[in-house]
Amino acid sequence: MGFRLGILTGGGDCPGLNAVIRAVAKGAFYRYGFEVVGFNNGFKGLVENEAWLIGEAAVSGILHRGGTILGTSNRDNPFQFQVTGADGRVSYEDRSARAAAHLEEWAIDALIVVGGDGSLALAHRFSQMGVPIIGIPKTIDNDLPATDVTFGFDTAVTTATEAIDKIHTTAESHHRVMVVEVMGRNAGWIALQAGMAGGGDIILIPEIPFSYDVIIEKVMERRARGKKFSIVVAAEGAFPAGGEPVYQSGSGPGPGHSHGPVFGPGARRLGGIGQVVAAEIETRTGIEGRATVLGHLQRGGTPTSFDRVLGTRFGVKALELAHCRRFNEMVCLQGGVITAVPLSEAVSQVKRVDPGCEQVRAAAAVGTSFGQAGAGAAG
Ligand code: F6P
Repeated sequence: MGFRLGILTGGGDCPGLNAVIRAVAKGAFYRYGFEVVGFNNGFKGLVENEAWLIGEAAVSGILHRGGTILGTSNRDNPFQFQVTGADGRVSYEDRSARAAAHLEEWAIDALIVVGGDGSLALAHRFSQMGVPIIGIPKTIDNDLPATDVTFGFDTAVTTATEAIDKIHTTAESHHRVMVVEVMGRNAGWIALQAGMAGGGDIILIPEIPFSYDVIIEKVMERRARGKKFSIVVAAEGAFPAGGEPVYQSGSGPGPGHSHGPVFGPGARRLGGIGQVVAAEIETRTGIEGRATVLGHLQRGGTPTSFDRVLGTRFGVKALELAHCRRFNEMVCLQGGVITAVPLSEAVSQVKRVDPGCEQVRAAAAVGTSFGQAGAGAAG
């Protein structure tokens, strides 16, 4: 039997995943003569041995489609796998050995894991158990340090920008302060770029804790200039100086944590800061405040051409690594060039916005407030 690759998509879905799967499968068939086995629903499929041999027909016509034909999960951690007993009691068991055994059953020579920091960290643990892994970085959050950008981010920013454009016209008509809450977990990349592209008056990101006084000052300063409305773009992980992010659910690390667990028990779900900020502005100024949470809209739908191209390039690079028997690396984009880094490097930390970076300074230079005095001032 020839070389056989496994592939799974883990974590939150992301526009461009199908472009990656298509590139891996088509390149495997046409260029290398590899076989490709898909595991369904992320690591859950690996634990439960839900897999299938991908044929050409399955990857035809999927390039432009959002989501993932393999399904995904951001809940199932094979090292702490949720098991429900006959009595309905929930416990967590280590099913990683079983998952690795399923790879052997399928005669997989290497496993491609397409995921964000949570899935890639799990992939890294499998690599330490001796499973040959190739990582492909995916997340709308763009928070992986080893790559200039992850696919999915461009689509999320495009979607958020279109939404901000629409909010703009209604904010202007009603003379309101409209807060648009975007995703991004504990990194402010989506808020920063969509906020800049959509002409947000105030951008709130987790990397720059905000002050309500500074936000109000900006809103009132605009009003004094005849601008009776304001647009606030708030990352879901944004929080006031001395305060905490707002969570919808889950328990985990306390305030100021950089990144709680993403998978399994203890994972927390951010959300709600937009409403809190809108209400506070209304209370303090008397100006009507409204919040819109974009949520999963940012993860769905047709990937942009940029994400389709990047996903295709990542998939083809992963095949090249497999062909050269280079394992436990993650493909990435660095300075416009597709390359690869050790998986350990890829999962070592989270990439967050540098408050002094050129993008923040550019936004501040055109009058955007970050809700903190002096944020983005010329260096
Ligand atoms: O990591 C991608 C992401 O969309 C984050 O931006 C967001 O915080 C999280 O996933 C939401 O996860 P879920 O789909 O479980 O609500």
